[in-house]
Amino acid sequence: MRLLAIGLAISLAACASTPPAEVPAYQHRFANAVEWSKKFDDPSRDAWQKPQSVIDVMQIAPGMTVADIGAGTGYFEPHLSRAVGPGGHVLALDVEPDMVAHLRDRAAKEQLANVEARQVAGDDPGLAPGSVDRILVVDTWHHIANRVDYAARLGVALKHGGEVFVVDFTRESKNGPPPEHRVPPEEVARTLETAGLVASTVDAGLPDQYVVAGTRP
Ligand SMILES: C[S@@+](CC[C@H](N)C(=O)[O-])C[C@H]1O[C@@H](n2cnc3c(N)ncnc32)[C@H](O)[C@@H]1O
Repeated sequence: MRLLAIGLAISLAACASTPPAEVPAYQHRFANAVEWSKKFDDPSRDAWQKPQSVIDVMQIAPGMTVADIGAGTGYFEPHLSRAVGPGGHVLALDVEPDMVAHLRDRAAKEQLANVEARQVAGDDPGLAPGSVDRILVVDTWHHIANRVDYAARLGVALKHGGEVFVVDFTRESKNGPPPEHRVPPEEVARTLETAGLVASTVDAGLPDQYVVAGTRP
């Protein structure tokens, strides 16, 4: 009987310390940037995406290096480019070769000289340790698998005092991935904390989305 009680206590303790499983990643291709651009760069998006509000909460200073992970067709790049200024650097990162080609064309056409597009692996943004001041991940966190490992890479890439901002769809939003792939903000915060970041939710006034920030101490 006593052995049974001890066994039960050990199992309960193990359950209490095991973090809940990650929401499964919503993995699919984003080929054909021109087609996706009709959706991602639709001018009506500004009303709910509020890009300037996102930029404002990021507190980007001129000269900073900012990585945009899952940059897509470059919706955020003009905003980020302006925020870091001519002495700053925007790394527009994406897994899709066609998105990266589109990002390069867009940066050239719109004369965003401080924007550099790079193709990256799905499990590694390829950022050098201590090299970036800000990381933005918009509508992309739910596409990433093994997010605890991924967050660890982000934590190492940030400079001390640097911050990552994850912007993604709330459970209630009428836009966004299927409900079973929506990552709640509490999970995002927990994941960023596993990477040694100090996480908090930030109010950017977005109607359909949350913003979770993680700061490297
Ligand atoms: C829904 S789109 C969002 C694009 C952009 N952030 C925006 O707000 O318009 C998601 C983008 O993330 C890219 N992506 C998906 N998984 C990724 C990963 N693990 N690393 C980098 N990019 C990824 C996709 O190719 C796609 O371009």
